[in-house]
Amino acid sequence: MEAKEIRKKFLQFFEKRGHAVVPSSSLIPDDPSVLLTTAGMQQFKKYYTGEADATKDFGTLNTASVQKSFRTSDIDEVGDESHLTFFEMLGNFSFGGYFKKEAIEYAYDFITKEMGLEISYVTIFEGKDDIGVPKDEVSKKIWQSLAPELVVKEEGMEDVFWGPTGTSGPCGPTTEIYCKNAEGKDIEVWNLVFNEFFFSGSREELLSGNSGKKLEKLRTPGVDTGMGFERLVMIAQKKKNIFETDLFLEPFLLFLMGNNQRGGRIIADHMRAIIFLLADGVRSSNKGAGYILRRLMRRAIVQTQLLGFSQNSLLDRVPFVIKKYGVFSDYFNMPEREAIIKSEFGAEMEKFGRTLKTGIREFFNKFPEMNVQRIIPGRSLEVHIVKRISGDDAFYFHQSFGLTLDIIKDLARKGGHIVEVDDSEFEIAREKHREISRAGQEKKFGGHGLVLNTGELKAANEEEVKIVTRLHTATHLLNAALRKVLGQDVRQDGSDITAERTRFDFTFPRKLTPEELKNIEDAVHDAIQKNLTVKREEMDYKKAIQSGALHFFKEKYPRRVSIYTAYDPKTGEELSKEFCGGPHVEHTGEIGRFKIIKEESSSAGVRRIRATVE
Ligand code: SER
Repeated sequence: MEAKEIRKKFLQFFEKRGHAVVPSSSLIPDDPSVLLTTAGMQQFKKYYTGEADATKDFGTLNTASVQKSFRTSDIDEVGDESHLTFFEMLGNFSFGGYFKKEAIEYAYDFITKEMGLEISYVTIFEGKDDIGVPKDEVSKKIWQSLAPELVVKEEGMEDVFWGPTGTSGPCGPTTEIYCKNAEGKDIEVWNLVFNEFFFSGSREELLSGNSGKKLEKLRTPGVDTGMGFERLVMIAQKKKNIFETDLFLEPFLLFLMGNNQRGGRIIADHMRAIIFLLADGVRSSNKGAGYILRRLMRRAIVQTQLLGFSQNSLLDRVPFVIKKYGVFSDYFNMPEREAIIKSEFGAEMEKFGRTLKTGIREFFNKFPEMNVQRIIPGRSLEVHIVKRISGDDAFYFHQSFGLTLDIIKDLARKGGHIVEVDDSEFEIAREKHREISRAGQEKKFGGHGLVLNTGELKAANEEEVKIVTRLHTATHLLNAALRKVLGQDVRQDGSDITAERTRFDFTFPRKLTPEELKNIEDAVHDAIQKNLTVKREEMDYKKAIQSGALHFFKEKYPRRVSIYTAYDPKTGEELSKEFCGGPHVEHTGEIGRFKIIKEESSSAGVRRIRATVE
């Protein structure tokens, strides 16, 4: 059975049982407390907490999905038989429609009857007194009544208690299903979570037990299940590892058949992740999700070099991945974005490919012993000789050649070494470097107003200064456009500008409609088209307030302030007037194409827009 049939089978199974099939949400989540989507339940968080009504939105309390997911927690493990960064998660969810009995019965029927597979064993939560959650006897009994012979193991908090994701959220005990792969190894396949509680802190705080925050009972208990799709496909196709399934073998045969198995698998995993992230709009940068993407790209590039393939062999894989995955309607944006995926990835190769290559050479010059493949008689090729690299050395390769710690570890493995880098030493070296470059920046741009008191602009070099300057003026136009379209009550609530984008927070009570977003974008375009003049004036604080210039209420201003005005030189009409330290472009035509990328909630009553200029 091909992977795509299994996706279909899963969704149909739950559709037949009264679930609404909901498309995968983007890898960029709506929830600002997490960087990337890590689970199917994320897009449904508000239905568990009662903030939104599933019946209204889906016509039922039960849903099912195939969710694009990404986790960095397993990144070190990628290359073994079953760990991935990007993966697909099959899930069924209920927000008060059903609970343990139905959830376990559905899972049992799907695995054993629909798929014809055997369950090796299941686990249940053993209970934890100090947080007031008892052993999950209910689930145990349900399993035993379904399959009296089935082994039910009891496990603890770390393994079988889910959540919360982000800084707070629903959580509860889970029961997990294990099946055997073709080698007879037990693989965790499906995780059924019973969200009975809400915790107003992070998972770390919950596990530490001393945060002082309480676990509260949710009014309506919910079900959240997640099944690793690649693992299910491996078991259904009777394979020894996920890389032998059609999901990987078809697009990545070239890399997976080589003699460096681990390297080939890293490339396969990272390539899928890179393509899905780019399709969802993540762009390479030195922060947040963009930095995760950059790390994956660099590591894939380095692995290709180590394996002796050309960089282009990576780009050549893109259409194959798109062919394999784009057939699923939820992933419609992949075929659409093939060209941009290739050009973004290609640009990164161009920018870093040669530097990385030099870095590899320098690294092996400094540590020649790590470049020698050791074969110890009677042991496998994966020899583990532990080597220490100082934080300063690791940081030097990171800073000068873009070799991330992942890459350094990969390089050392080539000669069978396991590298240990003292993380805190590395951080100290990084911090030292930051201070030096900060001091340098202030000297360089001191008279320029680049480092603003509000800390809202960030640029690392002159090229970036040019981009953030254009984005900065665009942000003023956006502020004016928001007030024009949504009303004069809209107030700025914060902003942050990097070379990648501007992020603007403003007070507004609800999600913006697509029409409103379009009108806002149009208003900004209009102001750019008119090529307004931007002028700077200094005046007394009082006079500035009287002039109607917008100011940011969270900021404290000095007696004399600087005001930036964008006005039409022909009519004198002022389109935007704000308190601001600059810098800005002289004419709005310099901004280029302005584009809103995302609109989401930032906090209660505050919306957040991300936009770029091209
Ligand atoms: N949220 C749980 C998980 O990701 C079940 O979907 O494993």
